[in-house]
Amino acid sequence: MWRKIHSDWPAYLLALVVLLVIVFKLSTNHPEKSLIALKDSTWHPPSLYLDPVKNKRERELVTYGKELISNTSTYLGPKGTVMQISNGMNCQNCHLNAGTKPDGNNFSAVTANYPLYRERSGEVESIYKRVRDCFERSLNGSAPDSNSREYQAIHAYIQWLGKTVAKGTHPKGSGIRKPDYLQRAADPDKGKKVYAIHCERCHRNNGEGEMNPEHTAYIYPPLWGKHSYNTGAGLYRLSNFAGFIQSNMPFNEVTQHNKLTDEEAWDIAAYVNSQARPILKESHDWPDISKKPVDHPFGPYADNFSEQQHKYGPFLPILLAREKN
Ligand code: HEC
Ligand code: HEC
Repeated sequence: MWRKIHSDWPAYLLALVVLLVIVFKLSTNHPEKSLIALKDSTWHPPSLYLDPVKNKRERELVTYGKELISNTSTYLGPKGTVMQISNGMNCQNCHLNAGTKPDGNNFSAVTANYPLYRERSGEVESIYKRVRDCFERSLNGSAPDSNSREYQAIHAYIQWLGKTVAKGTHPKGSGIRKPDYLQRAADPDKGKKVYAIHCERCHRNNGEGEMNPEHTAYIYPPLWGKHSYNTGAGLYRLSNFAGFIQSNMPFNEVTQHNKLTDEEAWDIAAYVNSQARPILKESHDWPDISKKPVDHPFGPYADNFSEQQHKYGPFLPILLAREKN
């Protein structure tokens, strides 16, 4: 018997391999599994450790892309080792955990929704255009060329992150969760007091944050001043800022129970965005002015509310007037 198995071992080995392939196929096509995925839209980012399908080249590109999102300044900041094209901030400062944190302005919905028509530009935008926007506005600099290895890596990483998300859908926790509007205008003076309690210890009294000893990157990124995001950036709109900080700041300390109240979040947003920062000139944003979001702080508008009210609120009267028209 032993001798027989011994002499037939190639056939047994082949049978074993076939069996393994069948078991693997069955387990990956299991209908219940896909049902579970559909019922629960919570997004679980892929893991580079567990993803077996990557070939070496693609894997290196995705890994480099993640590194560029996390440590942008080291490579592309004022003292960047590859290029010097941005303000010292990292993409990850605002797209937390390399763009994977729920309610942390993550990248889960990008692959599934781009190319995307956006009212801000009045154009169908590619992922490149959207990334370039953040380089020019949030990083107050310029974007690497679309053919560069750096952009290719960022693109590969964002594509890979969102590859399991169904076309046209937004997983739970993507983007920024916004607080309810206040009945009153957001108040920079009140915001200044709350800032001193909750934010100052890291982002500093002058809002300029703190750099590492080598001056190659920030430990605590700047919220205003000449090294911060410019007036064309997403965070310069109060609702984006208030929403981002309510879910995420103070950094690593937010729970269901201790997060900033709506009032605190709006008031701090008003305080921070009333401080000096770089100005984006010649923006052609929202070519159809009737599509401007209520908190876009630059006129002209299709309504009669002032720039002041479009910046700080109260926003409800603006919304109400829009609904009437
Ligand atoms: C100062 C904060 C900040 C920094 C730094 C920043 N971003 Fe953004 N980014 C935002 C905000 C806010 C939005 C959403 C804006 C909106 O919807 O109005 C956004 C949106 C995006 C989107 C679209 C997301 C979606 O779901 O549609 C991409 C892609 C993106 N950023 C890439 C980057 C990259 C790449 C970098 C680094 C080069 C970067 N961002 C740096 C604040 C930032
Ligand atoms: C314990 C230190 C700490 C505290 C306190 C803190 N932050 Fe932050 N904040 C950070 C760090 C660190 C980051 C960057 C996170 C990263 O890169 O992973 C950050 C990022 C940010 C960003 C996006 C990047 C930028 O510079 O624009 C904003 C906005 C922000 N914080 C606002 C606030 C506000 C408002 C408060 C008070 C409610 C606050 N933070 C409290 C540490 C802190």
